[in-house]
Amino acid sequence: MYSSKIIGLGYYVPENVVTNDDLSKIMDTNDEWIQERTGIKERRWIDPKSGDTTAIMGSKAAKIAIERAGLTKDDIDFIIFATLSPDMYFPGGGVLLQDLLDMPTVGALDIRNQCSGFIYGLSVADQFIKTGMYKNVLVVGSENHSGGLDKTTRGRNVSVIFGDGAGAAVLSRCEEKGKGILSTHLHSEGKYAKELTIENPSTNKWIPEFIKENNHDDVSYYPYMNGQFVFKHAVVRFSEVIMEGLMANNLQKDDISLLIPHQANLRISQFIQKKLGLADGKVFNNIMKYGNTTAASVVIALTEAFEEGRIKDNDIVVLAAFGSGFTWGSVVIRW
Ligand code: UT7
Repeated sequence: MYSSKIIGLGYYVPENVVTNDDLSKIMDTNDEWIQERTGIKERRWIDPKSGDTTAIMGSKAAKIAIERAGLTKDDIDFIIFATLSPDMYFPGGGVLLQDLLDMPTVGALDIRNQCSGFIYGLSVADQFIKTGMYKNVLVVGSENHSGGLDKTTRGRNVSVIFGDGAGAAVLSRCEEKGKGILSTHLHSEGKYAKELTIENPSTNKWIPEFIKENNHDDVSYYPYMNGQFVFKHAVVRFSEVIMEGLMANNLQKDDISLLIPHQANLRISQFIQKKLGLADGKVFNNIMKYGNTTAASVVIALTEAFEEGRIKDNDIVVLAAFGSGFTWGSVVIRW
């Protein structure tokens, strides 16, 4: 059986920087609250004039990842696209990206696992490569949150947190034994589906109702999050699934060279760091600059960490995420 490894990474974030002070001009919030409760200083929100969309941002990140992998678009055997904010209700972002990059008629799969989307995507790609079915798989996470947030005081507990952006990884067959993706672990708990959700539009509340005037007063079209409930579950599940990954590979906490958690809240990352007893340099955070970019967050952080020289050959890199669904998962990599 083969294994898989990441051979190219890229990310793209919109140019438009939105600071906490900018938000305080449109809703009742302030820099102090946002930084203290989340660690976020600023985020990127698409400037509508830029033309960026979830699929376009994904394609920009993918282009960089493919080039850095030393491949061309024609070498990619399969596309996996994770988002909760697709350009269209259907079809999904995978086929849009395929068209934007003018790729051959390879398969394109869409992943709907929100903050865990990239982790789920890596796991799927890893299985396809392990079995020998595909050699090079492109995994993309991209989000246009700003297009769908309630940017009034009513929505402030959610809207100040989320940012736009995209990241991409190229996974390829690995010939070296004991290297690349060592394990992936995925979980879900659907009984908490409504604790972090956008309920509509849906087949329960279909498009004609969606386009009715005043529908912006219907909060079911905006993200809802039971913040403290999600927070409490996140800190438990993150630690569990990281330990599950380590144990499956006979590794200890000390073996972690770099942990890259989904960037949901700096306090969550700090809690996990403390619980696992990891030194400051062993946990990567960039939520300060980008907010929570959901399916894009882990891969943007992984790309930045790699670009900053924080990941070296043979390092044990652990990726983990938790989010809406609830869904969560981890990936353990020997780089
Ligand atoms: O990525 C997917 C997974 N997501 C997560 O893991 C996120 C988990 N949850 C969280 O990160 C936190 O719960 C939040 C950052 C969302 C909220 O922080 P919190 O410390 O749980 O605040 P809270 O919702 O309990 O609200 C505390 C107070 C409330 O005021 P009162 O009732 O105490 O007077 C809120 O109305 O803070 C108020 N508040 C705000 N104030 C200023 C809520 N949002 C804001 C805001 N600006 N943006």
